[in-house]
Amino acid sequence: MPGLIFRWAAPLFARAARRWGEDDAEAFARLLHPALQPHGRLLDLGGGTGALAALLARVVPCTVTVVDPSPHMLRYAAGLADVEPVLGDAAALPFTDDSFDAVLVCDAFHHFDHREAAAREMARVVRPGGAVVIAEIDASARSTRMISLGERLLGEPAGFMRPADLERLMEAVGVPGSTQRQGGSSYVFVGEVAPLAGRGHDDR
Ligand SMILES: C[S@@+](CC[C@H](N)C(=O)[O-])C[C@H]1O[C@@H](n2cnc3c(N)ncnc32)[C@H](O)[C@@H]1O
Repeated sequence: MPGLIFRWAAPLFARAARRWGEDDAEAFARLLHPALQPHGRLLDLGGGTGALAALLARVVPCTVTVVDPSPHMLRYAAGLADVEPVLGDAAALPFTDDSFDAVLVCDAFHHFDHREAAAREMARVVRPGGAVVIAEIDASARSTRMISLGERLLGEPAGFMRPADLERLMEAVGVPGSTQRQGGSSYVFVGEVAPLAGRGHDDR
């Protein structure tokens, strides 16, 4: 179930998503490279309004599938060039194994109710050798504690993680990788799907 905040505040998120620019898309494209090549298959998980996906679609260039459980967020993605909106939940993705070359999760992982199941699903739907990029903020940063409190008050899971904990979780599902510090409390995890990672699980 998507949080209620992504129903009533969808227009605010759509406005906030205008912060994304071509520079951001180019930076993410570099992190997704070489797994994601021109005309490759990219999943933007928790992609919301599709604003970042549309920029990536132009910059790479490729088609970007945006998965999000909130129809209120997703409706902004309808009609964007080379963006395919799909209503769905990160913990049970409606795709066969190896459907994508890469997945990007930007400012969304801490909103997922079932983060471990979502991590397994990412490992399953991205082909071996494919890229997993997760942009998050550090749970141990003082500013994150305030954000976390605010999100919890709004009914969100606020599942912020420390970089090392996210690395451990991803390694456990077969996506070894490392985190890089971005500005402030932000960081990005970049991992590569190991052979057979995420396959053969039916305990979601
Ligand atoms: C803060 S928005 C980020 C949107 C976009 N990635 C961006 O950076 O502009 C978080 C998104 O995560 C989505 N989300 C929440 N729970 C989810 C889940 N279980 N599976 C997939 N997406 C989810 C929300 O609906 C929302 O669109």
